Amino acid sequence: MSHGEILLSTAAFNGIRALLKRKTGIHLEESSNSMILSRLSSRVRRQRLPDFDAYLAYVCTDEGAQELIQMINALTTNTTRFFREPGHFDLLETDVLPKLIEKAKEGERIRLWSAACSSGEEAYSIAALVLKCFPDALDFDIRILGTDIDTNTLQRAKIGIYPNGSMNGVQEGYTDILFDPDRDDGKVHIRQPLRDMTTFRYLNFVEPWPVRGPFQVIFCRNVAIYMDPETQSGIWKGLENVLDQDGTLFIGHSERISADLSLQLELFGPTSFRRPLSFLRQSIKHMESGDVTT
Ligand SMILES: C[S@@+](CC[C@H](N)C(=O)[O-])C[C@H]1O[C@@H](n2cnc3c(N)ncnc32)[C@H](O)[C@@H]1O
Repeated sequence: MSHGEILLSTAAFNGIRALLKRKTGIHLEESSNSMILSRLSSRVRRQRLPDFDAYLAYVCTDEGAQELIQMINALTTNTTRFFREPGHFDLLETDVLPKLIEKAKEGERIRLWSAACSSGEEAYSIAALVLKCFPDALDFDIRILGTDIDTNTLQRAKIGIYPNGSMNGVQEGYTDILFDPDRDDGKVHIRQPLRDMTTFRYLNFVEPWPVRGPFQVIFCRNVAIYMDPETQSGIWKGLENVLDQDGTLFIGHSERISADLSLQLELFGPTSFRRPLSFLRQSIKHMESGDVTT
């Protein structure tokens, strides 16, 4: 198949799929020729290479290392938006944050992780919710981490400036918390307090993870669907490993955690998981500390 002048041979197509799978865990279907053509043809041209066979050979060399990063960036799917799948944020607000805020006030370290954060909308939505529920959050040790494999979207996340249309669908109460009103450039700018609470870093799920945890909240949504079952299982196990004893894991609505984690994690809301007896443990802790309202 060719796109403009550029030929995508079966060998190059299969080679690119295999390379992507090895480097990222992403599984492209056999029907994804047109996706590769539309997303990568301009990269092949930019490198002044004659076809995808030459492009594949190039990204496998040392000189092609930077281009390999751009190839991966081009082949990831980064769809996201502020407060996507809002039920998770409702649960976070009503069932999770109140206890975390108490812990933060007692001096505990609280970490919330948006794993596979794309251009940052998910991480900033979490930060906005934290600030809404706890306006003094910045005076305590409560922080949000956003990570992704795509270096271009991570850069956009760090900059925190989005097209005006990104506000569509965001509840009115949140627009003031999220966006700086004093800008007049047709774009929306994330407010400084949210940027101060949030850090963005590179993390590839199929390489060693540069995070230790524990995380009291992990959002890992709409990324495992792109992986084969073995990679998915590795991601869920890794997340379970860094999830706090009383932590909460949110996954995408079309995703399922592996069956072999059913002893470690149980459903407590739609596509939301905690460790078994977590609720009981927290209640006992509160009763021991004299607070019998939980
Ligand atoms: C569809 S977006 C999901 C964004 C956000 N979590 C949401 O639900 O709106 C999927 C993200 O996963 C990232 N991703 C894909 N493979 C990855 C990997 N191996 N390690 C880390 N992130 C990866 C992509 O770069 C992309 O930004």
